[in-house]
Amino acid sequence: MSQVSDAGPAPLNTEPRTIPLHRALPALVRDPLGALVAFADDAAGEVVRLNLGTFRPYLVSHPEHLQRVLRDNVANYTRDGDGLLWRPVRRIVGDAILVAEGEVWESSRGALQPLFTAKRAETLVDRMAEAINEAVDEWLEPAREGRPIDGGAELTRIVLRTTMRVLFADRISVPDALRISAALDTVTTAMLPRLLVPFVPYAVPMPGDRAFNEAVRTIDEVVLPIIREARARPTDGDDIISTLCRPRADGQEPDEYAIRGDVVAMFSTATETTIALLSWLWPVLSSRPDVAERMTDEIERVVGATGSAASTCPSCATAGWCSTRCCGSTRPAG
Ligand code: HEM
Repeated sequence: MSQVSDAGPAPLNTEPRTIPLHRALPALVRDPLGALVAFADDAAGEVVRLNLGTFRPYLVSHPEHLQRVLRDNVANYTRDGDGLLWRPVRRIVGDAILVAEGEVWESSRGALQPLFTAKRAETLVDRMAEAINEAVDEWLEPAREGRPIDGGAELTRIVLRTTMRVLFADRISVPDALRISAALDTVTTAMLPRLLVPFVPYAVPMPGDRAFNEAVRTIDEVVLPIIREARARPTDGDDIISTLCRPRADGQEPDEYAIRGDVVAMFSTATETTIALLSWLWPVLSSRPDVAERMTDEIERVVGATGSAASTCPSCATAGWCSTRCCGSTRPAG
């Protein structure tokens, strides 16, 4: 965050409270996420500053402050793409849409925008449902045999199969997507030490560097041949890779490095977020049965009614969504 001079509804008349180095650093090294949550809880919505030596970021946690920073006064808070915090991210995605500002951001954003209109999203729904159904059907056998499955791995597989089909037109196969996804997990863990002490120059080796470099090599091994193939044989496809390989609005041909950055950024933003969300949804729902019930009701009302009004579960003859799961199916019966 580059500035907090206008931090919102509780204006800062004085310098925000600072968490001293001897408290901030050990807590962040021990448990980065837990430490940030604890600092925010202690601050009770006020902005605090973390003293990490030469690097002193602000921690903003009040919803109204977030509204101001991310929406109402967004121009004041640039991503600071050259800043210390983004430096490790730029090592993996270069100058991609996710970290760029200004003309570079506009070029990638302009190329990708037509893929994300509401109208196009609607046309993707059927293909998305088809891919999800295929992936979920692979649970029928373990369900019938009462065999447990690894929820995290399965949700990863479902999200990757769906995203690769719908957004990448299967240009990246599911096994290749699994390789990229595992490499991105490694990257995220391996860059934590550098995120915590971002002022340390890259010439100084740090824990995680070797794993990071190997993961980047894996990603390049998978992604670069696919981009080269797409550039050698251009199509008018509306998938992410074909779109990114075309000349931009200003007529400029994007170079391979720029395309690679945007492809990795789009892969990561589209899959890691959804996998994390779907993985955490179930433990959270199991602790809130009232919310789980509302969600099930809504699915039955919306998907059951429109998706398969004429379908019937082969085991219990329920019309539409088979919520009893007696046939082992988690999708609309039929
Ligand atoms: C639960 C799922 C998701 C969450 C929580 C999420 C969250 C976010 C957030 C917070 C940002 C802003 C980051 C920043 O500017 O610093 C962002 C940007 C972005 N997200 Fe997502 N996202 C999700 C799913 C997706 C999916 C499925 C896609 C692609 C299909 C996607 C594509 C993008 C892109 C391209 C950007 C950069 C936009 C720009 O700079 O113009 N995200 N996302």
